[in-house]
Amino acid sequence: MAIRNIVKDGDEILRKICRPVDSFGAKLNNLLDDMRETMLKADGCGLAAPQVGILRRVAVVEYGDTYLELINPVIVYREGEQIGYEGCLSVPNKSADDIVRPMTVKIEHCDRNGKKQLTTASGMVARACCHEIDHLDGILFYDYVKGGKLSK
Ligand code: CO
Repeated sequence: MAIRNIVKDGDEILRKICRPVDSFGAKLNNLLDDMRETMLKADGCGLAAPQVGILRRVAVVEYGDTYLELINPVIVYREGEQIGYEGCLSVPNKSADDIVRPMTVKIEHCDRNGKKQLTTASGMVARACCHEIDHLDGILFYDYVKGGKLSK
């Protein structure tokens, strides 16, 4: 495993649409292991592949006892609403307190072996999943902030 460099805001790779994963195996496993290690070292609760320079639909989320590997994730169900704090390892020193997300989501995705999974997430885990899945479509959390509310 290795720590990878986290791409910072301003790099155009963070604004690109990622391609689906079509090949499962050692390369993907390495990427997932490196992403988890990189996320934990940076004290984050989620990381998406474009944040380490890889334009593939892969994200990891770790919060409390929950660790998720989301490959080709699609949110298929949303319920409720939560308004709260968000930051991003690619956007250091900026955060927002009023990012609106669903309270609960159901996500169809693959695991690292290519097996289809349906994962239900709530609260902070749902928030992190939505944030990371947005990264796969080039969306950053502050895109949702209306003028002047982004704190430094
Ligand atoms: Co982020």
